Amino acid sequence: MTHPFTIAIDGPAGAGKGTLARRLADHYRLNLLDTGLTYRAVAYALIQHALPLDNVSAAETAARQVDLAKLDRAVLSAHAVGEAASKVAVFPTVRRILVEKQRDFARTPPGAVLDGRDIGTVVCPDADIKLYVTASAEVRARRRLAEIESIGGTADFAEILADIQRRDERDMGRADSPLKPAADAHLLDTSEMAIEAAFLAAMSVIDDVLAKRNKA
Ligand code: DC
Repeated sequence: MTHPFTIAIDGPAGAGKGTLARRLADHYRLNLLDTGLTYRAVAYALIQHALPLDNVSAAETAARQVDLAKLDRAVLSAHAVGEAASKVAVFPTVRRILVEKQRDFARTPPGAVLDGRDIGTVVCPDADIKLYVTASAEVRARRRLAEIESIGGTADFAEILADIQRRDERDMGRADSPLKPAADAHLLDTSEMAIEAAFLAAMSVIDDVLAKRNKA
């Protein structure tokens, strides 16, 4: 491969992009970055220090301290941290600090799969492949409920759905880097598609691009 190969995956919460990103990174032996964890790390730092989520200068300091090698998924995956992350993610200065770190990561050979909300549009606009993974809010809520129930928890479907819709609104409606498909993104709607089918569809797009690149 000539320059670091980049696969950008964007989409709303719960569409299956994390699983897809992991499968693709394994298959193509690329580095993997879930950029949502970087926003979650900032939110978590504020929560730990009992600081309000609209304290921009504290959020900037926390963003500067984010170490991509030390993102602890177990700690950061809590639902409340995701909600809080979506709130600190509206601050342009916080985004700029994190985007720089994400770009450095993408530039590291042999390349990477990055998933988030603005990878194809802002972080890596020149990515070799851009995928936009989506699913209806109802399907995403049903999946989330099944996930909670599979570990013995209980939750209310209507509440989960309202939560997802609120998060979509915030992520798609913010002024800086809103969630939207890049003009040249391949759309994958996983509402009616199992993750394996999404993986196969993504692989066929990627293999085409790789074949052209190897011929060039
Ligand atoms: O993908 P996630 O649920 O871990 O993301 C948490 C929040 O972080 C999400 O609601 C919005 C924000 N985020 C973002 O603004 N840009 C990204 N590239 C990734 C996440």
